[in-house]
Amino acid sequence: MSATNATVTPAANEASVAVTDEVVVLDYGGQYSQLIARRVRECGVFSELLPHHVGADEVARRKPKGVILSGGPASVYAEGAPPLDRELLELGVPVLGICYGMQLLARELGGRVEGAEVGEFGRSQLTVGETGRLLDGTPREQTCWMSHRDTVFAAPPGFKALASSTASPVAAFESAQRGVYGIQFHPEVIHTPYGQQVLRNFLEGVCGCELGWSARSVMEEQIERIRTQVGDGRAICGLSGGVDSSVAALLVHRAIGDRLTCVFVDHGLMRKDEGEQVVRAFRDHFKVPLVAVDASDRFLTQLKGVSDPEEKRKRIGGEFIRVFEEEAAKLPDVQFLVQGTLYSDVIESGGGTGAATIKSHHNVGGLPEDLQLELVEPLRTLFKDEVRAVGAELGLPERLVWRQPFPGPGLAIRIVGGEATRERLEILREADAILQDEIRKAGLYRELWQSFCVLPDVRTVGVQGDSRTYGNVIVIRAVTSDDAMTADWARLPYDLLEQIASRMISEIRAVGRVVLDITSKPPGTIEWE
Ligand code: XMP
Repeated sequence: MSATNATVTPAANEASVAVTDEVVVLDYGGQYSQLIARRVRECGVFSELLPHHVGADEVARRKPKGVILSGGPASVYAEGAPPLDRELLELGVPVLGICYGMQLLARELGGRVEGAEVGEFGRSQLTVGETGRLLDGTPREQTCWMSHRDTVFAAPPGFKALASSTASPVAAFESAQRGVYGIQFHPEVIHTPYGQQVLRNFLEGVCGCELGWSARSVMEEQIERIRTQVGDGRAICGLSGGVDSSVAALLVHRAIGDRLTCVFVDHGLMRKDEGEQVVRAFRDHFKVPLVAVDASDRFLTQLKGVSDPEEKRKRIGGEFIRVFEEEAAKLPDVQFLVQGTLYSDVIESGGGTGAATIKSHHNVGGLPEDLQLELVEPLRTLFKDEVRAVGAELGLPERLVWRQPFPGPGLAIRIVGGEATRERLEILREADAILQDEIRKAGLYRELWQSFCVLPDVRTVGVQGDSRTYGNVIVIRAVTSDDAMTADWARLPYDLLEQIASRMISEIRAVGRVVLDITSKPPGTIEWE
């Protein structure tokens, strides 16, 4: 391996050559756009989300069987509102507009769209006059989810108006002849009970897609792609213990066997037994060549005297890269670097239009950018839940598949207002293990986005037996969330909280008090620093 100052080359396995049928979702800025792509995939059709401005050529390059135009916040009449690219209607594949997408189609094709006095937000009653192809198999009266102010008052000439709602004279229309379809309601949200059926009608009935896409088909397809990309080469993968890098590593191992080496840097800031679980799974169970480095002394030395959170992150990140580079340099002839970049990372950084993405979330687990290696990113087209499905399919232990997100700098940023010493890490690790154990036993682990403990640099007085104590405080933090952008504090049952607190105090001598964080995000953040 050479470690020169060139930049990392983007992955060659772009998402564009779909082996299975694909439907493109164009994003006009709606809050549910990602969800549309996910629902299409749940129907069994591969789907990509692209920004609305990519142009018909870029869409055509993917050879989709259909195109979906998403909702969006703008009024079609607002200045600067994203326009419809007419060429999309000339691609020869069916187009379905949802909400804003429908209004764009209506206006462009000669229908009547107007701003209504009152908008229609939330649950609404849909009355179907004629099912057409789109609403086939759905009842005459049904509920649906609406979120719009502009409304279609008349379908374009030659189109059939299929349904109406209280505030939408035309809530669905179609012209099978032109291959253009529109719905005002959101089929992708669970509050539209027949939404999935409507999507399936479009995908299967209208576009003629085969519903064959699944975690299993992805696996086989990706393994083939990796073989083609890597050829006889050698690859390296940094394992963090999280589900993304684990699944990426296993896929690559299936494809190229022992020509993959994994490097697991144990920075000593992991949760209890986590390092061992990774080593057991990869080295012992999957027989993947694994270099496990116990670098805890090095990281603790770096953290000496540091209490500022950003300084902690910086030092941990820097040391991580040094250790990884040292290990990588010992492996001869490595040309490829495996990364667990997810589709959501790709979307965030430019919408999968070919922009190279290197997962640089925060700072740890972010790898050196000056390794002259080609990226292998087998999860680049997958959402998190799909990665979990692939992980389960590959036989990854349940604990690794369902692991809650864990920050790269680990427990160090949960020792708040003070230095992360070995002793404090030990207290926090033990408290965290009790919390996880009880949460799992209560069957709540998967329901929570994250559950963890924080150890602030505070002592409080207590009494235990007949003597006065002066112990540490443990904070319980548990949140529900979809994406970590917002989070709600989890309403854990009182009995569970009591069990957790009493175990912490009786099993960990240094803990004298347990408190619960009831702050949501915003205004708080999930972590304490
Ligand atoms: P906050 O605290 O900003 O966290 O609400 C949002 C999500 O990011 C995780 N997080 C980190 N992940 N390195 C990471 O890899 C970090 O420095 C870091 N800080 C926060 C946090 O656990 C939550 O999932």
